[in-house]
Amino acid sequence: MKRVFISGTGNVGKNLIGLIQQYDVGVRITGLENRRGMISGEHLTNNDVENFLKNPEKFGKNKEKAEYDIFVDLRTASRDGRMELESYISEFQKGKNVVTANKSGLANYWPEIFQSCKNENSNILYEATVAGGLPIFSTLRASCGYFKVRSFRGIVNLTSNYIIKKVNSGINLKEAEEEAIRLGIAETDMSDDLTGKDSARKAVIVCNSLFGKKFRLSDFKYGGLNLNKIEQNSMLLVSINEDEEFKAQSGIQILEENDPFLKMGPTAMAAEVGFYGRSNLTLMEEFDGPLETASAVLSDIINI
Ligand SMILES: NC(=O)c1ccc[n+]([C@@H]2O[C@H](COP(=O)([O-])OP(=O)(O)OC[C@H]3O[C@@H](n4cnc5c(N)ncnc54)[C@H](OP(=O)(O)O)[C@@H]3O)[C@@H](O)[C@H]2O)c1
Repeated sequence: MKRVFISGTGNVGKNLIGLIQQYDVGVRITGLENRRGMISGEHLTNNDVENFLKNPEKFGKNKEKAEYDIFVDLRTASRDGRMELESYISEFQKGKNVVTANKSGLANYWPEIFQSCKNENSNILYEATVAGGLPIFSTLRASCGYFKVRSFRGIVNLTSNYIIKKVNSGINLKEAEEEAIRLGIAETDMSDDLTGKDSARKAVIVCNSLFGKKFRLSDFKYGGLNLNKIEQNSMLLVSINEDEEFKAQSGIQILEENDPFLKMGPTAMAAEVGFYGRSNLTLMEEFDGPLETASAVLSDIINI
């Protein structure tokens, strides 16, 4: 039985708790925390969890005595990744593994995090950091880990591409933004999405994970939407290629009319992966939300 301490009980955290309670997959919750409180115990019942979620302020904040094997990071991303770096190092030093959907640490401090993980003989999995519930890293690891990746092209940010598609179908920008918030696709503050920062964080993680780089967000030039001019057949994409020289970009691209990415629905996430020695692989999901993300997190917990 794997014991998890879940840090962050928002949209993804609540869905993860629901999945663990619903499916018998050998995972037990022995700790939960958010900004307001913390609960831990070897035998937390569903009732304990429910009470904590209703009134976290009533519980203490001392995590020292919590017993768990895996620290699950579902916290709001920090601006610079420092909070995540410090907490992962501390978890590795305590002999714990880490599973994260929060991309800020990995996008800013990949080299330090993996060095510490190696030094302490721990492990970290991060499937949900890129394209939420689309199983990119786990599929590649499980099914074609021995083939070297030569290219990656992905729709990894839902908010921007949803807004582009809606504006191109005739809806005005404000309406498209409001619709994205109403559907739960976008947060009220979508600046990281629209400036391209969210997509760039994911590009850094893909470069490091699939191409063996040691990039940081600060090394990476990226672009986002020009809200005054959203062009037909444009999408915000991550493209990485190492055919002649290594090239990675995250920004707006104008696609050929028959590009399969343009034919996907407005809520799709997708990744096309090219390899040396085998044909390309395309992964696509029609909708990505907190449930899909939580399911990627649960798979990492099971696989770590
Ligand atoms: N939503 C998605 O579909 C999706 C997809 C991929 C990746 N992610 C990533 O997954 C993470 C969680 O997303 P979400 O949508 O669940 O966010 P959310 O609904 O805003 O929830 C964030 C949770 O983190 C807690 N938190 C923030 N700072 C904390 C701290 N320092 N210590 C302990 N808890 C802290 C918050 O506590 P309070 O409840 O007390 O405020 C809240 O429970 C984010 O990093 C996000 O970027 C989300």
